[in-house]
Amino acid sequence: MSDTPLPPGSYRPATDKWGAFSKLAARLPEGSLALVDRTVVKHHPGLLPALEARNPRAIVQITGGERAKNFASLEKVLTGGLTLPRSGTLIVIGGGTLGDVATVAAHLLKRGVRLVQVPTTLLAAVDSSLGGKGAVDLIVRGNVVKNPVGVFHYADEAWICPEFFTSLSDAQRREGAIEAWKMVACLDGRLFRKYMRQAPTLEQLVKDGRRLKESVCAKDPYEHSGLRRVLNFGHSFGHVLESLSRFKLSHGDAVGLGMRCALDVGRRLGVTPEPVALQVEQALEQGPGILGRDRIASLIQRTPLKDVVDLLAADKKAGTSGELRMILLTGIGAFDIRDVPETEWRQLWSAWKNGIRP
Ligand SMILES: NC(=O)c1ccc[n+]([C@@H]2O[C@H](COP(=O)([O-])OP(=O)(O)OC[C@H]3O[C@@H](n4cnc5c(N)ncnc54)[C@H](O)[C@@H]3O)[C@@H](O)[C@H]2O)c1
Ligand SMILES: [Zn+2]
Repeated sequence: MSDTPLPPGSYRPATDKWGAFSKLAARLPEGSLALVDRTVVKHHPGLLPALEARNPRAIVQITGGERAKNFASLEKVLTGGLTLPRSGTLIVIGGGTLGDVATVAAHLLKRGVRLVQVPTTLLAAVDSSLGGKGAVDLIVRGNVVKNPVGVFHYADEAWICPEFFTSLSDAQRREGAIEAWKMVACLDGRLFRKYMRQAPTLEQLVKDGRRLKESVCAKDPYEHSGLRRVLNFGHSFGHVLESLSRFKLSHGDAVGLGMRCALDVGRRLGVTPEPVALQVEQALEQGPGILGRDRIASLIQRTPLKDVVDLLAADKKAGTSGELRMILLTGIGAFDIRDVPETEWRQLWSAWKNGIRP
């Protein structure tokens, strides 16, 4: 483990270790606290013995999933860490939901302990285990409000153990891949063109996605300058579609469709050149495999426009006076942040409703 003078949780460039979990586990200080996704334990029987060999203070097991991202889980982890010293380490082995809970717990325990992230979903590997953010959800009048209570607490290390990805479903892989391709489309044109010629391996995708997200977070580690907004490409309409599907559509698939919408808006405003939009859209279809426009159509068919306006306004990506602030591509690997008037995106509505490219 690195012996840096920075207090735990402060920003530092990500330290990634790649390898088999059983090998990397030797790096874990004895007496650490572990949070593990029970689903991962079921798929990977070697996980618990490798952890137990490090004499952990406690191993808290929780079944991962959005429903686990709550105060009850947080309390379980905090209770498991009661005797952890301030110099102690919390290690989390799981997807983005448990990673988020662990980030909050690491921030609160003894006012900040060391955190090691071991992402077990592709989404967590390319996105959530990096960048320091963690949060839990709240239930307000029966509805889940996502991420209102959160912290910044950077992981000291991330261990990428490709063996964990072998138990992911195709849909889970697609979801992580869409988020990684999203970053490449906005930030690295040369790499995107390389991907268009030959689809990347899973390992390459994780490496590239992490490098690009890290490059953005390094410039704006505590989200002060708005630079990190680029990571929201495809998320404005993506969140609307996710909501309209009542979360039956996975977040990644919703973002894939949201990117189609963002490319349309970009073309409509003259920000995204037609050939760029066409190439990116085709690459996203052939690469990670975004869903078709028929899915947008079926989701919005019976939705009054007013509901969409409300959903967009409620989205935290809207500007301070409620305008729709979107990431639009100006080229492959280049973007601009624009305020999009309602009158503009409304022009696209009937095409979207009919499942055709405007
Ligand atoms: N903190 C951030 O910056 C950030 C960024 C993006 C997303 N997020 C959050 O991440 C969460 C989504 O992450 P996720 O998709 O990893 O969700 P998740 O943790 O719910 O994992 C998805 C499902 O996969 C299972 N699973 C985990 N690893 C597995 C494996 N190796 N094999 C088989 N099944 C496995 C889990 O038990 C769960 O059922 C959301 O809550 C989102 O808000 C956070
Ligand atoms: Zn996302």
